[in-house]
Amino acid sequence: QDYDLGDHPDFMHKEISEQPAAARRVLGGRLDDRFATAHLGGIRLEPRELRGIRRVTFLGCGSAYYAGQMGASLVEELARIPADAEPASEFRYRNPVVDPDTLYVAVSQSGETLDTLMAVQELQRKGGRVVGVVNAVGSAIARQCGQGIFLHAGPEVSVASTKALTNMTISFALLALLLGRVRDLSAADGRRLVSALLDLPDRIEEVLRSEPEVQAVAKQFAGARHMFFLGRVRGWPVAREGAQKLKEISYIHAEAYQASELKHGPLALIDSSMPSVVILPDDELYAKNLSTVEQIRARGGPVIVVTNADVPGDLADAVLRVPRSEPELDPVLLTIPLQLLAYHVALELGRDIDKPRNLAKSVTVE
Ligand code: AGP
Repeated sequence: QDYDLGDHPDFMHKEISEQPAAARRVLGGRLDDRFATAHLGGIRLEPRELRGIRRVTFLGCGSAYYAGQMGASLVEELARIPADAEPASEFRYRNPVVDPDTLYVAVSQSGETLDTLMAVQELQRKGGRVVGVVNAVGSAIARQCGQGIFLHAGPEVSVASTKALTNMTISFALLALLLGRVRDLSAADGRRLVSALLDLPDRIEEVLRSEPEVQAVAKQFAGARHMFFLGRVRGWPVAREGAQKLKEISYIHAEAYQASELKHGPLALIDSSMPSVVILPDDELYAKNLSTVEQIRARGGPVIVVTNADVPGDLADAVLRVPRSEPELDPVLLTIPLQLLAYHVALELGRDIDKPRNLAKSVTVE
């Protein structure tokens, strides 16, 4: 029945719609309100070992790598452990220094991506400690890691990953909460996160209800040849994932950039034929991001804002709104309108949504 389209025209639409249920599954039984922490039974590390972790490195390819970048932010913010993300495809080729005090997290929907599997094997050969964050139970990466977090997103058929990516980010929030609570994160902060996580599936549902508005914006911008996706810090991997989705299924050239880097070069490209999608969370960088919007508009560039802030409708050429969560979890909700935007632009252009040209669902070759 998971492979039935039901009322949906294609699998991507079905999988986008399944996100509230998928999010409930990945959270199910893993949140502890009393001790304000997460239970991750698949990670067999004692609190003493968890406290000994000095760095967390996320490895994945494509969207799984961008999700890893969101994970690195969450770990740094909640656990105050240095964290980073790297494409597994690069990592495996550069003879990395493998550090015994680093926790390596291999991220993969299919669990079969060869680059990620090879990175895991290389790490293990050199004594690295690797856990998997994988959707497909019994897959090569899940077996190779032997421990980790299953995503429980259900089968994902569309080449463009949506619900698995959302569940990756939610899993990283759980991991960051666990790591934070055996270190420095206060019980009050832990509780704040636990309740925001419990609330997340309903908030995702709310975002999905805005599909007609996103569809209208997609119609407005489907004629673009190029697009920028801009974000700062938490918004930066959101921008990267948004650009990735648009490229994959619409074949429109999309480039993600850190909003803060705009003035160091790419601003020269802004004119009326170059729309920008600006990620505008209502966080401590709000004023900075707002000035990015103004700088682009002052040069005649069309802007689509994706925000959870109370902005006026005429702030940009289009405003896509999402509800508030806790700021650390904003990337989860801000990503969803970008899935819908890519989807409706591709539909408008008559693309083969589930099977974009030149791409495979899982890349099991070099
Ligand atoms: C996502 O929309 C892409 N199709 C692609 O980047 C994908 O995330 C990547 O190939 C990794 O796949 P995996 O999660 O199955 O390892």
